Amino acid sequence: MRAARKQKRKIRPRKDEPPDLLARLNERVTLQARADGSILASVDGYPMELGRFGPEAEAGAVDLRTGVPLGWLAKSGRANREVNDLVRQLAQLGFVEYRLGRAGENADIVAIEPQTRDYWPRLPKLAATDTLALSRFAYLRRRGDALVLESPRAKALFRIGDQAVAAALVTLARPQKLGRLRQSDGFPGDALIALLIDCDILFKVAPETEGLRWDEGDSDLILFDFHDLLFHARSAEGRHANPFGGAYPHVDVIAPLPSARPAWPGPAIDLAKFEAQPSPVAALFRERHSVREFDAQAPITLAELAQFLDGTARVLSHWQSPIDEDGGGPVVDFTGRPYPSAGSAYPLELYLAVGHCADLPRGFYHYDADAHALTRIPAKDEPLQAMLHAAEFAMDAPGPPQVLITIAARFGRTSWKYTSIAYSLILKDVGALLQTFYLMAANMALGGCAIGTHNIDLFEQMTRLAFYAEGPVGQFALGRPAKPSEGRAG
Ligand SMILES: Cc1cc2nc3c(=O)[nH]c(=O)nc-3n(C[C@H](O)[C@H](O)[C@H](O)COP(=O)(O)O)c2cc1C
Repeated sequence: MRAARKQKRKIRPRKDEPPDLLARLNERVTLQARADGSILASVDGYPMELGRFGPEAEAGAVDLRTGVPLGWLAKSGRANREVNDLVRQLAQLGFVEYRLGRAGENADIVAIEPQTRDYWPRLPKLAATDTLALSRFAYLRRRGDALVLESPRAKALFRIGDQAVAAALVTLARPQKLGRLRQSDGFPGDALIALLIDCDILFKVAPETEGLRWDEGDSDLILFDFHDLLFHARSAEGRHANPFGGAYPHVDVIAPLPSARPAWPGPAIDLAKFEAQPSPVAALFRERHSVREFDAQAPITLAELAQFLDGTARVLSHWQSPIDEDGGGPVVDFTGRPYPSAGSAYPLELYLAVGHCADLPRGFYHYDADAHALTRIPAKDEPLQAMLHAAEFAMDAPGPPQVLITIAARFGRTSWKYTSIAYSLILKDVGALLQTFYLMAANMALGGCAIGTHNIDLFEQMTRLAFYAEGPVGQFALGRPAKPSEGRAG
């Protein structure tokens, strides 16, 4: 990448110059150009073939260790295009981060870690008259020995290398004009401000403000508490780059807790002497178990699916009630359904990824619990396949489920009433619904398994619903069991 090198040599480090925005490989990745012109990436020691990119990309691969300016990548020369293609592919794989730094200086002012695969730094236009404020979802914290600025709304995390930058940014807890901010010590330059606006960590306050909470988001976002949105975005796949799932992160430092709690000291009252024949319900509880393998020769039928949904999730009644016991305040619509829900809010919606069901074409459907009907959602087959495959992976199963139910929440239905506890109430509703699914499946001789992971970004792609308006909070695999399965951890 000769052109980039030449350009870099001309630049002299000067404190008053705005910092450069550069793309570079993240620490886990190394690149190796091979004799046949192809490039091999190595991620934590695992090789990955990237393909051929041309001779200029080969040289560019070397520069990517320290960083290639984004401005240079955007130019139209052959070298620029080849290196740009390489960087774009590396970015899609999650192998690239970005740095704001001054040419010739090693220290990062800020390093930018993408949290989603589609993140690419964008610089929205700014004016000195723009009034800026810090998002109520943004937070600064220590991670290892680094200071990081992040937000559940942001598609990137900002590692702050210069504390003066953090000090300048926190002054935006109170809205300020950009023109004034530019005068402050530690002002990081317009590029960082634009990147933070693009990531919803800063936002422009409307001239006729109705209050910062209103300026920052639509009516769905307004209803979210800070900790609830953080929990939603960080406890699912799709909007962060943290390690995820059953990785046993503490195996070397702490022994596992005992499977049953050691008894409290003191005398115990023996209940075994009261044992009776289990009731039909208790028998169903004991019969219930997780099924991860399904019978490809005899898929679940549409009639069975209808019966399953009718028994577990259908709206059974409608009623209305004022929010105040004395009849004051707005009157709210309520429904009754087979499972319990905090405050009768019933925020949960069912979306069915149908892979193999007799009489129902493969596709993605919404279950209208009121009409007791399925509506097809025009999602592409690729994300549908990805969703079914992720469930197969989560269950360590030999094939995908016949039907994968995604339990999504209309968060605002619960958070309109409850503050501080809304998201936790929604997850408790999910638990109640999962057990209802298990029992109905057992009762119908179907098989099912709760799944602890789901991808909120994938669901957003398939439904075009903002991740904070309506999004996944649980999943359940369903189908006809292949054979009696054994209990296991999952
Ligand atoms: C919230 C929740 C999440 C679960 N997630 C998974 C999962 O991701 N993969 C899996 O194979 N099983 C999963 N399971 C099923 C458990 O592994 C299973 O319930 C447990 O091993 C007990 O077995 P049993 O259901 O057959 O009695 C989950 C269960 C629950 C309640």
